[in-house]
Amino acid sequence: MLNRFVGKYALVTGASGGIGSAVVERLIDEGAHILAADINETTLSALQKRFDETHPGTLFTIVCDVTKREHAQNAIRKGWELFGTVDILINVAGGSLPGCPTHLLEVTEERWDMIMALNAKSTFFFGQEFIRTHKEHETTGVIVNFASQAGIVPNEYARPHYAAAKGAIISLTKHMSKEFAPQGFRVNAIAPGYCASGDRIRALWKIRDEQGVSEKMLWNVAMHRLAEPSEEAAAVAFLASDDASYITGEVLNVCGGGF
Ligand SMILES: NC(=O)c1ccc[n+]([C@@H]2O[C@H](COP(=O)([O-])OP(=O)(O)OC[C@H]3O[C@@H](n4cnc5c(N)ncnc54)[C@H](O)[C@@H]3O)[C@@H](O)[C@H]2O)c1
Repeated sequence: MLNRFVGKYALVTGASGGIGSAVVERLIDEGAHILAADINETTLSALQKRFDETHPGTLFTIVCDVTKREHAQNAIRKGWELFGTVDILINVAGGSLPGCPTHLLEVTEERWDMIMALNAKSTFFFGQEFIRTHKEHETTGVIVNFASQAGIVPNEYARPHYAAAKGAIISLTKHMSKEFAPQGFRVNAIAPGYCASGDRIRALWKIRDEQGVSEKMLWNVAMHRLAEPSEEAAAVAFLASDDASYITGEVLNVCGGGF
C-alpha cells in the first residue's frame, strides 16, 4: 500500500455509504486522518467503531445534512478545529432517492429540488466553504467531487433530475478548477458508472438480476460487470494525491469502459 496521505487531513461527505466508506478506508490505509460527515447517525457510528478498532485516532465524525449551508460551515469549521487544516475535500454524498421516477414527465418540482440539493447544491456549499476557509488561512487544498456517467451519457435507466444534477457538478468542477488553479487549488471529479456500493444498491441489483434487467444494463459496459467501491476509491485517492499534481478540471470515468 502507498503512503500518499501521511500528514494529510481530509473531509469526506457521505462517508458511511457504500463508496464513501471505501474512500475513507483507502485514505486511512494510506496514512490520512479523516473527518467523516454523513446524515445517517447509525452507519456513521458503525464506521467510527470500525476504525477505532483498526486505526485508533484516525477517524472523527460529524452528523450533517449536506443540503444545509450551515451544516457545511459546521463541518468545515470542525475539520479546522480538529486538524488545524483540511487538505482534501471529497464530496461523495449524493445519489437519487428511492422512488425517484426515471421518466421526465413524472418528475415533480419537489423531487427536482431534492435531488439538485443533495447532489449539486451540497457540492457547491462544501466547495465554497472549503475554498473560503483556505483563503482566510492563505493555504490551498484539493477537491474531488462525485459526478456520474448519468451526467455525461444519456441512459434510459438514469433519472433525468439526477443526470442534470451530476451534469451541474461536472460544470461546477470545471469552473472551480479554472477560477482557483492560479491560487493553488485543484478541483476534479470522478464519474462512476454502475457500482455495487452499499446494501441498498446491492439489493437493487439483485432485483434487476431477477427481472433480467442487469444483463441489458451491463451490455454497453466493456468489462461487463459492476465496479467494486474500492475501485472508485482508488481513483479518488489518485486524484486527491500529489500523483495528480498537474491534473485539474478533469472528470475521470471509472465505469469499466461504458455505461
Ligand atoms: N453506486 C453507483 O452505482 C453510483 C454511480 C454513479 C455515481 N454514484 C455516486 O457516488 C456517490 C456515492 O454513492 P453510493 O453508491 O456510495 O451511495 P450510498 O447511498 O451507499 O451512500 C450515500 C451516502 O450519503 C449519505 N447521505 C445521503 N443524504 C445525505 C445528506 N443529505 N447529507 C449527508 N449525507 C447524506 C447517506 O447516508 C450515505 O451514507 C453518490 O454521489 C452517487 O451519486 C454512485
